[in-house]
Amino acid sequence: MGNLKVAGICGSLRGGSYNKKLLNCAGVIISEMGLEMVEVDLKVLNLPLFDADLEGKELPESVKKLKKSVEEAHAVIISSPEYNYSISGVLKNALDWLSRGGKNSLNSKIAVIMGTTPGPFGTVRGQNQLRQILACLNVIVLPQPQIMIPFAETAFSADGSLKDEKTALMLKRLLQSTLDPK
Ligand SMILES: Cc1cc2nc3c(=O)[nH]c(=O)nc-3n(C[C@H](O)[C@H](O)[C@H](O)COP(=O)(O)O)c2cc1C
Repeated sequence: MGNLKVAGICGSLRGGSYNKKLLNCAGVIISEMGLEMVEVDLKVLNLPLFDADLEGKELPESVKKLKKSVEEAHAVIISSPEYNYSISGVLKNALDWLSRGGKNSLNSKIAVIMGTTPGPFGTVRGQNQLRQILACLNVIVLPQPQIMIPFAETAFSADGSLKDEKTALMLKRLLQSTLDPK
């Protein structure tokens, strides 16, 4: 398990993003497991909008970087906000690029998905859509436990950790059962 590579993707570009905080919590658990999560930062990558006209030519550098980072990883951790009952546009755009350009870079990968929102429903609707998209891309996602964290403004301590111990334990269980199944 020591050389399992994990790529982390946050579906929000916002400075102070709660979903980035949640991704960081996953990163801490992953490092405690003796693994390393490498973040694929969509803000830094600044991907162009998917355009099928660009596919036949040489892919944009940012797209090549995105696809390489994910292809080198065995597993992907996605933490995304829910936008209008779906996933964020930037995440959908990244997934569209990953699925195309000569190769589905996500084919046969395993993924952990999670999300948090200031609202009361914890990204449940967005995550259902994310599961459907990942099924199309032949990505394996465990059905449970599901990490959907409501009331994000009060969910994190000043050090960035999850305040609720049960939620933190559930996240640990999800990461362990996905990345280190025994
Ligand atoms: C365009 C847009 C649509 C949103 N739609 C939803 C929604 O459907 N459900 C929800 O719980 N929150 C919704 N929100 C609120 C986000 O959950 C909130 O802005 C959250 O902080 C975004 O995640 P972040 O902190 O990681 O950036 C929406 C926000 C935006 C900007």
